[in-house]
Amino acid sequence: MRNDLIAVARSLVLLAGLAWVGIAAAQSPALNPQQAEQAKQQVMQQRVQPLNNQPVWSAVRSGEPQITGVRGRETNVLIQPEGQTWRAARVPLAAVGGFLFALTLVAIAVFYVWRGPISLKSPPTGRMIERFTLVERAVHWGVAITFVTLALTGLVVTFGKAVLLPLIGYTLFSWLATLSKWLHNFVGLVLVVLLPIMIVMFLRTNLFRAYDWTWLKKAGGMFSRTHVPAGKANAGQKLLFWLMVVASGITLCVTGLILDFPNFDQTRQTMQITNIVHMVAAMVGTILVAGHIYLGTIGMRGALDAMRTGYVDETWAKEHHEYWYNEVKSGKSAGEGAVPLAAQHRTV
Ligand code: HEM
Repeated sequence: MRNDLIAVARSLVLLAGLAWVGIAAAQSPALNPQQAEQAKQQVMQQRVQPLNNQPVWSAVRSGEPQITGVRGRETNVLIQPEGQTWRAARVPLAAVGGFLFALTLVAIAVFYVWRGPISLKSPPTGRMIERFTLVERAVHWGVAITFVTLALTGLVVTFGKAVLLPLIGYTLFSWLATLSKWLHNFVGLVLVVLLPIMIVMFLRTNLFRAYDWTWLKKAGGMFSRTHVPAGKANAGQKLLFWLMVVASGITLCVTGLILDFPNFDQTRQTMQITNIVHMVAAMVGTILVAGHIYLGTIGMRGALDAMRTGYVDETWAKEHHEYWYNEVKSGKSAGEGAVPLAAQHRTV
């Protein structure tokens, strides 16, 4: 009887042992040879270099998808390796952009010192021609304010840490940087609305005509100081329209929307490429807008009045946009918003 009890107890212990082994086997799936090898290497690594977990981090940085219960695109990739390339590319790219922008400002200053403001050769007549309607001017100034705000805040966000922080200190810079970021994110949406309106509004005026090539070849007489006739917009303005307003403006709006709304499930790589394209388009746009602002203000006498009041003197129209002036005189350009010689008397 005693022997029987011992035999039962032995069987129970054996069964319990087998059950435990079975449960343990079910909980940790068998390693395949590759995983087993990696685990062995890990153990070795911890012995040889206890604080250096390089093999694990190499595997994490490989970008290989792993397993996760979190739903969504790319949630199974902990570190995306292209992100390192993007981080490395941003700094030299921004530096080149900043250098080219600074160079543009210097070139404009040199040109201004050498050439001075472009003035009228004959005296103004006092007879005014309508150049831009109220709606055209409202759209222009709407775009101008938003574009310049975006350019300035973009410059603060990109170069502020390197240029402004040492000058104004942490407290002021943190306010300025935060304000710039918010302004940039929200004012961008205003440009998205206004820019297409501007493009449609000024498109017809900026279609290239045969005579524009002559203007381009002579650079509008800006260096030779000769008179080169032009339409309502000269070839320089047309180039600026297509590069600054259409190409750079549309690229900035599209990429800006992608960056503003990352919640549309775009991948990290999409965001990185978009960011680089946004920076290049911003660089081109800001450089061109600097030239445009120069000519629209101190570079050419009477130009700002055109956008401020909507009217220019007959002499101004003849000396800067002779073909357009002739069209207005002959009544052909009335459809473009210009009216035949208005009887108003203003000074330029
Ligand atoms: C503070 C900034 C700006 C100033 C002072 C300024 C000034 C001017 C002036 C004076 C004109 C009239 C030129 C003429 O009569 O021939 C003009 C025209 C124009 N501007 Fe601006 N502007 C500014 C910003 C911008 C911006 C940011 C854009 C677009 C991105 C822009 C797009 C245009 C366009 C499309 C025209 C009409 C000329 C054409 O048909 O090509 N401007 N601007």
